Amino acid sequence: MSSGTPTRQRVAFGHPLADRQRVVVVGQGYVGLPAARAAVDAGHAVVGYDIDTAKIAALRAGQSPIDDLTDADIASMLASGRYQPTADPADLAGFQVALVTVPTPLREGHPDLGAVIAAASVLAEHVTPSALVVLESTVAPGTTDGEFRATLERNAAGCTVDNGQLLVGFSPERIDPGNTRWHFANTPKLVAGADGASRAAVRQFYSTICDTVVTCPSPATAEMAKLLENTYRHVNIALVNELGRHAHELGVSIWDVLDAAATKPYGFQRFNPGPGVGGHCLPVDPAYLSDRIERSLGRPFDFVDLAMRVNAAQPRYVFDRVTALLNNHRIAVNGASVLVLGLAYKANSGDTRETPTNSLIQLLCRNGASVSVCDPLVRDLPAQLERDYPGVKPIAPADVLDAAQLADLCVLVTDHDEFDYAAISEAARRVLDTRNRCATAAHVQKL
Ligand SMILES: NC(=O)c1ccc[n+]([C@@H]2O[C@H](COP(=O)([O-])OP(=O)(O)OC[C@H]3O[C@@H](n4cnc5c(N)ncnc54)[C@H](O)[C@@H]3O)[C@@H](O)[C@H]2O)c1
Repeated sequence: MSSGTPTRQRVAFGHPLADRQRVVVVGQGYVGLPAARAAVDAGHAVVGYDIDTAKIAALRAGQSPIDDLTDADIASMLASGRYQPTADPADLAGFQVALVTVPTPLREGHPDLGAVIAAASVLAEHVTPSALVVLESTVAPGTTDGEFRATLERNAAGCTVDNGQLLVGFSPERIDPGNTRWHFANTPKLVAGADGASRAAVRQFYSTICDTVVTCPSPATAEMAKLLENTYRHVNIALVNELGRHAHELGVSIWDVLDAAATKPYGFQRFNPGPGVGGHCLPVDPAYLSDRIERSLGRPFDFVDLAMRVNAAQPRYVFDRVTALLNNHRIAVNGASVLVLGLAYKANSGDTRETPTNSLIQLLCRNGASVSVCDPLVRDLPAQLERDYPGVKPIAPADVLDAAQLADLCVLVTDHDEFDYAAISEAARRVLDTRNRCATAAHVQKL
C-alpha cells in the first residue's frame, strides 16, 4: 500500500488531469452530502442525485437533512452555482466522475446490495468513454470488482474496464458524524482501482477533495480494510461490554478498571461499555464480512458472531439493571416512571438509526413502565416517538430537570454534551448512568 499527496490539489482550469469535472454523487445522505460539499468546494460541478424526492426538495430549499452540514452550508453550495440536487436520472448525463454513497443495509441478517446495484444500473446508462465510477458504500470484499463492475459493464454500451473505456474504483467512507476534529477532507482516504488506469484516476480525483490519499493494491483490500476498522471497534466494545457485566457482579467498577488500564502508554486502546451499538455501521458492517467469509469459505467468523451476540444483548442487560435497581427500592418496573435521556445512538448526534435505545424502550414499555424520553438533538422527537413508540412521552430539553425530579428512575443512554449532568443528577431521585458521565453519588448507579 502506498500513501501520498500530503496536500490537497485545488482544481485548476487548464490542467489536463485536475480540470474541473462534472461529478455525480448518488445518494445525498450522511456520506454523500459531505462528499458533495467537498467536491463543490474544490471547484467541481456536482449533481447530487437521490431517489428520495422529499429530501431533494428540502435540499433545493436549502435545508440540511444531516447534523454535519448546516442549512447555511447547503445554501452556500447552492449559491456557488455548482451544486444541483436532483431526483431526475436524466441529470446524470455527461458525468465524468460518479461517487456511489447509497445504503448497504442488512435484510434478514444478510447484506442487501439492492441500492448499490440500482445505482450502478442507472449510472451505466450515462457512461461515456473514460468515465470514472467509484463505490463508497461499505461492501463485502470482492463487490466492486464483482457485482458492481459487472452491472456497470452490462449496461454501459460497450464501455468496459478491459477496453479502457470505463474506470471503476472503490473508496470507503470513514466519516464519523458529529466528530469535529476529523471530517471528510482531513481523514486519510483509502482508494483503489479495478486496474492501473482506474487506480490512477481515482487517486487523482480524490487528491482534489481530500488532504491525504492512500492507495490500496486492490478494491478488495480497501473493502476489507473498511470492514476491519468497524469490526475492530465492534469486537472491542463487545469485550468491554461483557467484562463490564462480570465486573459489576464481582463488585468492581469497569470504569475504574478502564481508567487504570488506559494509563498504559502502548499496546492498549480504550473502548467504553455502553447501552449497545447503533447507527448504520457497527451493527451492520461486521455482518458483511462474516457473510462473505461464510459464503466463500464455508466457515463462520467466530469473533464477529460472538461480538454481535454480546452487543445485541446489551440493551437487555441495561433493562435487567433497571429492574434490579428499582427492585432494591421496592419499586416494580410495572407502573414505574422512567425517564430515558437520549434516543440517538451516539453522543452529539441526532441520528436514531439502529439505536439500541429502541430495544430498551420496548422492554420498558412491554413491562408496564411509563416511559418518557428527552433528546435535545433529535429534531422531530415528538413525531418519532408517536410513530415508533406510541404512549412514550417526549420531554422538551427545557423541562428535563422537572421530569428527572418526578421520575422513579433516569436512565442516561446517550451522552450528549448538551445534557447538564450535575443538574440532572441533583434533580433525579435515582440514576442509571450507562456512559459514566454523572459524578459518583449514592443515588447514581453506573453500568
Ligand atoms: N453514516 C455513516 O457514518 C457512514 C460512515 C461510513 C460509511 N457509511 C456507509 O456509506 C453508505 C451510505 O450511508 P449513509 O449513512 O450516507 O446513508 P443515508 O441513508 O444517510 O444516505 C443514503 C441516501 O441514498 C439514497 N438512495 C437509496 N437508494 C438510492 C438509489 N438507488 N439511487 C439514489 N439514491 C439512493 C437514500 O434515499 C439516502 O438519501 C452505507 O454503505 C454506509 O454503511 C456510512
